[in-house]
Amino acid sequence: MRNANHRFTLAARPTGIPGPENFAEDTVPIRPPADGEVLVETLFISIDPAMRSWIGEGPSYTRRIEIGDPMRAGGVARVLESRSPDFQPGDIVQGRTGWQSHPTLRGRETQKLDLSRGTIDDWLGPLGTSALTAYFGLRDVGDLRPGDTLLVSTAAGGVGQIACQIGLIDGCRVVGIAGGPDKCRFIKDELGVAEAIDYKAEPDLTAAIRRTCPDGVDVYFDNVGGPMLDAALANMRNGGRIVCCGRISQAGAKEPYGVKNLGMMGGRNMRMGTFIVFNYNRRYPEARAWLAAQIKAGRLRQKLHVEDGLHRAPHALRMLFTGENTGKLVVKVA
Ligand SMILES: NC(=O)c1ccc[n+]([C@@H]2O[C@H](COP(=O)([O-])OP(=O)(O)OC[C@H]3O[C@@H](n4cnc5c(N)ncnc54)[C@H](OP(=O)(O)O)[C@@H]3O)[C@@H](O)[C@H]2O)c1
Repeated sequence: MRNANHRFTLAARPTGIPGPENFAEDTVPIRPPADGEVLVETLFISIDPAMRSWIGEGPSYTRRIEIGDPMRAGGVARVLESRSPDFQPGDIVQGRTGWQSHPTLRGRETQKLDLSRGTIDDWLGPLGTSALTAYFGLRDVGDLRPGDTLLVSTAAGGVGQIACQIGLIDGCRVVGIAGGPDKCRFIKDELGVAEAIDYKAEPDLTAAIRRTCPDGVDVYFDNVGGPMLDAALANMRNGGRIVCCGRISQAGAKEPYGVKNLGMMGGRNMRMGTFIVFNYNRRYPEARAWLAAQIKAGRLRQKLHVEDGLHRAPHALRMLFTGENTGKLVVKVA
């Protein structure tokens, strides 16, 4: 319905894993664009683990969402009406659509997609934020070098898949950690990693990493934190680097896990660093030029996990924390 904006708002803050019980659905009239704004029809929204921190009680790197506010999200949309000189009706853009079917966006926070560089799927996947995260994490924080042994957790997920492929393109030996045999088959057979560790089937993850990385790990790309980080720390080589990208195992944990093996860092001259991808926004063009060249050469791709319909967004958010997604998770809205 063109005059209606269907949306999900925050109804209650999660105490554990977020899901449908935390959101309320409503329909409001569309808001005609003011000067500098565009009215859009949302096509896809990205579902990201960081959303848990935007709606929870704990610390967040960005402003929290208040109860009753529409859920925030990045998305891809088609312009319906424009009062910005930078956009025409029909343009495909990315911006802060939120969990809304017909939001009105500020032109200065919205970017037209260059569809000569990649399809909409490419912009959701290997040119999107997950790919930029893997790129800057490995390049800048991990200082990845050819010949390194690279260990990647959540290797079948949005960021993890790209991190594995960048490692392979850079001439590294890549070992992926993922939950379950299907995800492990995917990263081994389709992405081409040397070894896949199914952490859910391993009684001793430290031993599993030692078995698959007998000479030790040069770079650990950590998306999980918790005991998995301890198992990786125990297997790092001298001069090893740990990229603290995320710690999804700690989302909503009642008691935060105390990492035990940090003391090994000094003796092995290791480095560990955190980062937030948005702080690299001035260098996105550099990253996207490299990523687009890899896509064109057939060396980089991303499996998308698509949930159909805006009503699936609250359930999709839960899936990230239960491991039900394989690939970059998005919701197709129209
Ligand atoms: N630093 C940044 O700027 C930045 C930007 C974007 C994302 N990130 C981080 O990157 C990570 C991956 O994000 P994504 O969007 O690509 O998500 P994703 O990997 O596509 O999905 C999340 C995956 O996490 C795994 N998982 C969930 N709970 C877990 C647990 N308790 N222990 C171990 N694994 C668990 C599941 O995979 P399995 O089935 O394999 O367990 C799940 O499929 C997250 O930690 C996120 O916060 C950081």
